[in-house]
Amino acid sequence: MLITKKDFGRTKKGENASLYTLTNKAGMKAVVSDFGAVLVSLFVPDKNGDLKDVVWGYDKVSGYENNGVYLGSTIGRNSNRIGKSKYNLNGKEYTLDKNDGQNNLHGGFDGYNARLWSANTDEINNSVKFMLDSPDMDQGFPGNAKISVTYTLTDDNAIKISYEASADKDTIFNMTNHSYFNLDGESSDSVLEHQVLINADAFTEADAESIPTGKIIDVTDTPMDFRNYRVIGKDIDSDYEPLKFGAGYDHNWVLNKTEGAVAKMRSLNSGITMEVYTDLPGMQLYTGNFLAGEEGKNGKKYARRSAACFETQYFPDAVNHENFQSPIFSAGDKYKTETIYKFTVES
Ligand code: BGC
Repeated sequence: MLITKKDFGRTKKGENASLYTLTNKAGMKAVVSDFGAVLVSLFVPDKNGDLKDVVWGYDKVSGYENNGVYLGSTIGRNSNRIGKSKYNLNGKEYTLDKNDGQNNLHGGFDGYNARLWSANTDEINNSVKFMLDSPDMDQGFPGNAKISVTYTLTDDNAIKISYEASADKDTIFNMTNHSYFNLDGESSDSVLEHQVLINADAFTEADAESIPTGKIIDVTDTPMDFRNYRVIGKDIDSDYEPLKFGAGYDHNWVLNKTEGAVAKMRSLNSGITMEVYTDLPGMQLYTGNFLAGEEGKNGKKYARRSAACFETQYFPDAVNHENFQSPIFSAGDKYKTETIYKFTVES
């Protein structure tokens, strides 16, 4: 399919950013940018066949330069938190930016989501590949790393995000996509009526700063049990300590191993269901508890809890927990992972 490229404005540093639009045979469209390798828009058909843009984002590149809430962001080298902004690797202690209290969040102040990546389009596969060179000790992570993120739009209405990376020293790779989804699109101000399903028997317990304690908690009989569809707003404000700590859902689920979708979200209004597929062990469901009226596309203000993120990942702070699968990759080893967001419609 034809991939179109257009100007997305100039960054503060004077770089020219571009927007790439992918279209499939069903009419679905994905708009991505080489600035931050961000997902800007995702136009999905609803039950009436009308296209709805189901992700929050900005109209101009300047929005993405000041994107404190990480709309549509590619996060790297490490997504989620590292406790006390410290970790030990091969006997050496490394320190990271403290950009979330005492802790490190989403790589630090100089995130991959606010850098210009290079781009290659592939019209045969209907994909755009973004590439970034991350130097040794970038953000506090060792090794010169070559990183790529490829967005592919398939004809069965899935956006596939493929990550590849390797470095010349042992290092951490734990990337994710931080898109905020609302399946009713721009006309909606709340995700609380949406229903979510997560194929997970447990979640990782976290403290008041959202740093894992190392304990894995069974979801049975808790508001964290999403093994059947649960309306997001049903228990979000209940008197349950993890929800108080997170100011709502902002937790990592321990995904059950499955061939199928690890999570789903649906809106009965638009009839759209989103399925999430991944090969990673964890997923943070974050219900936009800290959105506070940021102004986005078409002047829309993104209200608290107006959208939800499904951030597939190694568990938060995994580098500091021996019982969590390690996000450390040896020099020369390949980090290769894929997450798919697939859209279907029920009429
Ligand atoms: C975190 C939230 C944080 C948000 C930033 C999420 O991945 O879990 O706590 O506020 O990112 O937008």
